[in-house]
Order: sequence, then structure tokens, then C-alpha cells
Amino acid sequence: MFFYTINKKCYLYLLIILKKYNFNKLFIKTTKMSRVISISNHKGGVGKTTSVVNLGAAFANLKKKVLLIDMDPQANMTVSLGIEESENNIYKALKGEQNLTPIKIYKNLDIIASTLDLSGAETELSAEAGREYIFGELLEPIRNNYDYIIIDCPPSLGLLTVNAFTASDEIFIPIQPHYLAIKGLTKILEVVNKIKKRLNRNLEITGVFVTMFDRRKILHKDIYETIITYFQDRVFRTQIRENIALAEAPSAGLDIFRYDAKSNGADDYTYLAKEIIRTDKKKNKNA
Ligand SMILES: Nc1ncnc2c1ncn2[C@@H]1O[C@H](COP(=O)(O)OP(=O)(O)O)[C@@H](O)[C@H]1O
Ligand SMILES: [Mg+2]
Repeated sequence: MFFYTINKKCYLYLLIILKKYNFNKLFIKTTKMSRVISISNHKGGVGKTTSVVNLGAAFANLKKKVLLIDMDPQANMTVSLGIEESENNIYKALKGEQNLTPIKIYKNLDIIASTLDLSGAETELSAEAGREYIFGELLEPIRNNYDYIIIDCPPSLGLLTVNAFTASDEIFIPIQPHYLAIKGLTKILEVVNKIKKRLNRNLEITGVFVTMFDRRKILHKDIYETIITYFQDRVFRTQIRENIALAEAPSAGLDIFRYDAKSNGADDYTYLAKEIIRTDKKKNKNA
């Protein structure tokens, strides 16, 4: 009984001291909190790949450690960063032939490359037990080496996208302001809800942003307002403007900062990265 009271007292003192010195914050600083984000929209050509490449580069410029993963068999992200063909790629990893092996693009920016072979992966893996978790398992050993891991999803909601969602904490949806842009989104919301229920309870759509935006067009403004009505505070305030340099940079194998650092595209992706980093701090406070 005596020891019990002493222990209880010690415990209470310890709690007070920890609270006083804000131990939580110290702890968070020493543990790397990676954010794994899938950028997805099953509509093609909405700016997924452009956003993964340039948001990733913006984070790297802001001294965050970044890993970009090309989950699309078209391998546009890989090629956009100047890698034509790589022995180390996501396909071989998913097939169990190698670990996920990041390729260094420059300081703070690594990628996992894709290859056209990946187009066969959905059928080849469809009979595997736990097929939805294969990518998540592969990511686990390197997950905490990075601040941000961003996955470029294919324009479909098949097994590759399901693997990306199962391994992610968050989903960002880029939307091109077209007339029917919102209508098609119910499908992705359904898939996210199912995955949340069955495979990954932590998954949330935390960000929606417009791409190829033209402030002079009334239609674009109207659609932006509709997106806000629909997704409310999950819509990022940063709008990615239509910018020719963003469309040109991939042919040089460069992100926008190395291609044209003074372009609107470079500015917009920097603003977006900063807006996301601000939500980082909120997340850490809540953790
Ligand atoms: N903000 C932008 N301004 C101008 N062109 C853009 C912009 N974002 C993307 N693009 C171009 O639009 C096309 C589709 O973009 P992409 O990122 O490949 O879309 P997705 O990955 O969703 O298919 C590409 O040719 C790309 O260069
Ligand atoms: Mg793409």
C-alpha cells in the first residue's frame, strides 16, 4: 500500500514535469513524422503528374526530404524528371524481385521509378493474398526516412490505386476547372470510403486544389466556388494557374524550379507547398 502511494505520487510528479516542459513537442521533434500523400483523380490530364513533380520539388527547395513514387504505368513522372529507364523500379518491387530502391534526383529529392511493364501488374497481382497491402509493406522500411512521400496515381481506380491508398495517410485531388469536373468525383469518394472502411481507417481526403486555372474566365471562378461548396475547408487557397513553362519543363526532364524558377508555375507550387506545410504544424499539434 505504501509503495503504491509513493508510486502514484511519483507518477503524478512525472506527469506535471512532462507537461511543464512540453515533452510532447520535444518528442515530435526527434521522431520523423512522414506524410504519405496520394495524388489521385481517375480523370486523365488534370495535372496529377505535374503536381507530384513540382510540389515535390517545391518541398525539397524548402528543405523537406521528399520521395516521389510513380505508380502509373505511363511513367510520365519518371520521364519528367529525366529518368528514361531504370533497373530499379516499382514493378520489380511489387513482383517481389527487389526492395523499393529510391533513385536520387538531387539533394532532398528521391524517386521510385515506373516502367511500362507496370501495366501488367494489376492482372499479375490479382490472385495474391493481401494484394491490396503489397505496396504498403514495401514502403514501411523507408517510410520514416522522408518528410513527404507523394504518390502519382494512375488515371484509374484499380489495384495500383488501391495499393497507393492503402499505404497513404492522405489523398489530394487536383481538379481541372471543366464543366463536369465535380460530377466524376463521386466515384473516387466511393472508393475512398470503401478503403477507409475495409483497409485503411486513417485515410482522409485532406486536400483539393485547382490546376490550369485562369482567373479571367468566369467559368473557372464558378467552378472554384462549387468546389469550395462541396469540399469546404479541404480546398487549398492556392490555385495553380495555367502556365506554359509547366507544360514545357517535362520535355527537358526538369522540374519547374530548374527549368524556369521565375515562372508563375514555380511560384504557385511554392505557395501550395507552404500552405501544406502550415497544415503540417496543425497535424503535429493534434498528434
Ligand atoms: N498548370 C498547368 N498549366 C499548363 N499546362 C499544364 C498545367 N498542369 C499540367 N499541364 C499540362 O497538362 C497536361 C496534363 O497534365 P498531367 O500532369 O500529365 O496530368 P495527369 O497526370 O493528371 O494525366 C500535360 O501536358 C501537362 O504538361
Ligand atoms: Mg499522370
